[in-house]
Formats: sequence, C-alpha cells, structure tokens
Amino acid sequence: MLKTSDDNKSNDQHKCQHVAIIMDGNGRWAKKRHLPRFMGHKEGAKAVKRIVIAAQKSGIAALTLYAFSAENWRRPASEVSFLMELLYKTIEREFTELINENVRLSFIGNWQVLPEKLVAKIIKITTDSAANSGLHLLIALNYGAQQEILAAAKDLARKYQQGDLNLEDINEDDFAKKLALADAPPVDLLIRTSGEIRLSNFLLWQIAYAELYFTDVLWPDFSEDDFNVALAQFSLRKRRYGGL
Ligand code: IPE
Ligand code: IPE
Ligand code: MG
Repeated sequence: MLKTSDDNKSNDQHKCQHVAIIMDGNGRWAKKRHLPRFMGHKEGAKAVKRIVIAAQKSGIAALTLYAFSAENWRRPASEVSFLMELLYKTIEREFTELINENVRLSFIGNWQVLPEKLVAKIIKITTDSAANSGLHLLIALNYGAQQEILAAAKDLARKYQQGDLNLEDINEDDFAKKLALADAPPVDLLIRTSGEIRLSNFLLWQIAYAELYFTDVLWPDFSEDDFNVALAQFSLRKRRYGGL
C-alpha cells in the first residue's frame, strides 16, 4: 500500500511535511552575468542556506536537496572538483552552524565514494547532528534513482537466490525501505528551479504521488518568498491518490 502523509500525521490534507528540490540553474545564472559557471555554484550555495532557514521557519519536517547527481560526473573535471570543494566548505561553514539550530543532517546517494576528506566531513556532521529534533535536512550526493532501485532489486534477488526470501513477501513498503528517504515522511512536494521540466533521475520511486512544482527562477535567485509561494501552491492542490 502506498504510504501517504495522512498515514503519518493528522488528516489535514494540505499539510506539507517533506519538500524535495532539484536545485538547477547555477550555470545559467552565471552566464547571464557574464561570470564563470563556478560563480553560479557559489551563489547557489548561499541559496541553500537561505532555503534551509525558510524551510525550518515553515514548519515542514524534512527537506531533501539534490546537490550532485550520479550523472554530474559527465561535467568537466575542473567543475566537478570545484563542486566537491564547495560541498566540503558548505558543510564546514554553513551546515555546522545548523547543528545549533537543531537541524538533523543526512546524506543520500553513493556519497561513500566521494573524496576521503568529504566523506569524513559527512560522517562527522551526520553523527554530530543525529540527536537533533528539528528540520531533517537530507542532501543527495552522487545520487541516481535508477541506480538505487537497481541495487535494491539486486539485493532482493540475491536473498531469493540464497533461499532467504519468498517472492510473495516482497511488497511496496519493504521495497521502499531499501531506498533513500525510508526514515523520512513521504515527499509531498517536489520543486525544480530553472525552467527545466524533467526529473533528471531524482527520487523516481519516492515521488510516485508527490505534487510537482516547476519554476523558471534560477536556483541562486530562489528566495524565501519563492519557497513560500511553492508551499502555498501545494496547499491548493487536491490530492486523490487514485481515489475520488
Ligand atoms: C545545478 O546548476 C547545480 C548542479 C547540477 C550541481 P547547473 O550547474 O546544472 O546549472 P545550469 O543547468 O547549467 O544552468
Ligand atoms: C540535476 O540537474 C542535478 C542536480 C540539480 C544536482 P542537472 O543540471 O544535472 O540536470 P540535467 O542535466 O539538465 O538533466
Ligand atoms: Mg542544470
């Protein structure tokens, strides 16, 4: 059975608990200003801080941000290494402060293969913020939805092959537990900035019944007001989950 927000919390159907964002448009933001792409990424990191604070104020329980996709390795090596360094600095300078604001940090995706220094930082901030009870901030790093669905399917196949699993026992809930966001409420709202109307391999399973919101605003320009407009739009949506 599909897990919905209503199963987890009150029957207030307009309550948004979990927002996921595809933070897109850093390069175009820079291009418009005749700046190098990396300047767009730097400005994008500022928007992250701003939107995390806005999310906390709004009272949602969880915010998942797509920071680096499994496909972003296709970019020039210089851009990839700049992004890795920027991630490190953002965790060190900005996210560490968030621990005192009661934010809990988690990372999804295949982040274990990232540069050692970054992995150590991720483990430290995850541990240091584990007991926090405020906003749950999840950062998707080296994340690809098809890759994670395939890995879960292979894991089940392996268990079946070893005789440890009956096919009849596999259901949607158990499958979802093998994927990212298993410990967060269902994604209610997916936002993508920059005008692209696609999912780019983000959370394909988890957004089966999320509301989708696309805006032309480029990520570095995305403001607290823009975030609140998206939440307001969400509250107007009628979610039916196949019912009437
Ligand atoms: C999003 O901005 C940041 C990452 C994907 C890391 P882009 O870098 O994709 O910006 P555009 O799409 O080129 O404008
Ligand atoms: C999606 O943006 C990935 C992140 C925001 C981290 P991209 O800019 O990589 O997506 P495509 O290439 O336009 O689909
Ligand atoms: Mg892009």
